[in-house]
Amino acid sequence: KHLQPDQEAPGVLSMQDCRMQGGSPGFKVALLGASGGIGKPLALLLKMNPLVSVLHLYDVVNTPGVTADLSHTDTSTLVRGYVGKDQLEASLVGMDLVIIPAGVPRKPGMTRDDLFNINAGIVRTLCEGVAKCCPNAVVHIISNPVNSTVPIAAEVFKRKGVYDPRRLMGVTSLDVVRANTFVAEVLGVDPQLVDVPVIGGHAGITILPLLSQVKPAYSFTKDEVTYLTKRIQNGGTEVVEAKAGAGSATLSMAYAAAKFADSTLRALRGEAGVIQCAFVPSQVTDLPYFASKVWLGRNGVEEVLPLGPLNEYEREGLAKLKMELKASIEKGIAFVARQQ
Ligand code: NAD
Ligand code: LMR
Repeated sequence: KHLQPDQEAPGVLSMQDCRMQGGSPGFKVALLGASGGIGKPLALLLKMNPLVSVLHLYDVVNTPGVTADLSHTDTSTLVRGYVGKDQLEASLVGMDLVIIPAGVPRKPGMTRDDLFNINAGIVRTLCEGVAKCCPNAVVHIISNPVNSTVPIAAEVFKRKGVYDPRRLMGVTSLDVVRANTFVAEVLGVDPQLVDVPVIGGHAGITILPLLSQVKPAYSFTKDEVTYLTKRIQNGGTEVVEAKAGAGSATLSMAYAAAKFADSTLRALRGEAGVIQCAFVPSQVTDLPYFASKVWLGRNGVEEVLPLGPLNEYEREGLAKLKMELKASIEKGIAFVARQQ
């Protein structure tokens, strides 16, 4: 028997109930580099996040198509597309969170630093837009080399007088996702149950997993530590080589960035106890930027947490990574200092 138009099936919301449920306040998120290998799957994952009420997709190419496609998915997030540098500012006005995966990826044989010459300028320009149009937004930097692009972003914000170290984060969540995955393989457990802090930076030996702090607690053999540390440090290169010239990690990166964005938004909304690893302005070592666990809250990074106890292998790794990380940070700072 068919229901009459004014009848509701039991347990089904009325139109009025639906309208009252819709439009719940969420966050406005801009994704810069939205048509790329990371951008597209990340846009999909953000569109599926109930904390995102408005999603702006900006790129220098193809955002009209990506936006039209994504806008047909039946989640309540409103998607708008912006294409070309003339539309950058419009894409940024009023945003709470800006996520930046814009720029070129590696090919086999390249280091992340080889991307500096192209990506440094891209990140600088995009951050100038952020400083002008949404100076209070939290900014997640994915574009490589993260060890240099985060200092570039900071220097741009300082120049523009809008710098707040709590709101700038280099995304290193892929290192943690990889560490959890590879450790879970060794332990034979569900990766969702594993948590490995990864500190330092986001390139080669600057990526330092703290396997002595793994949760659940486990004592790895020396061979396991060597194998896992190297595999985590080379995770990006493993994907670059497997893709054989077609780019670097995109799906795993989109997953890791979506997780990090979700954590940030939950914390901005007031959820307590949100802790993630990120590459941030820091005083936990003598370097001005460092990746470690950070406590996220209503203002972004509320506190950069101490590294905790390191074993001898990790202390040596830390000593070794500092020189390379320092040089990458200084390269980023010098890049902005050279501009008029
Ligand atoms: P991609 O080439 O597939 O996509 C990059 C996108 O950026 C393209 O759509 C391009 O049009 C766009 N773009 C270029 N210049 C732009 C500009 N000025 N403004 C806006 N958009 C612009 O590359 P990808 O695979 O998506 O990787 C993007 C970046 O992310 C690379 O630098 C890569 O090394 C980095 N990455 C970082 C991590 C990490 O863990 N932090 C992981 C993977 C990749
Ligand atoms: C990664 O770790 O996958 C990214 O930094 C991309 C790359 O170039 O390795």
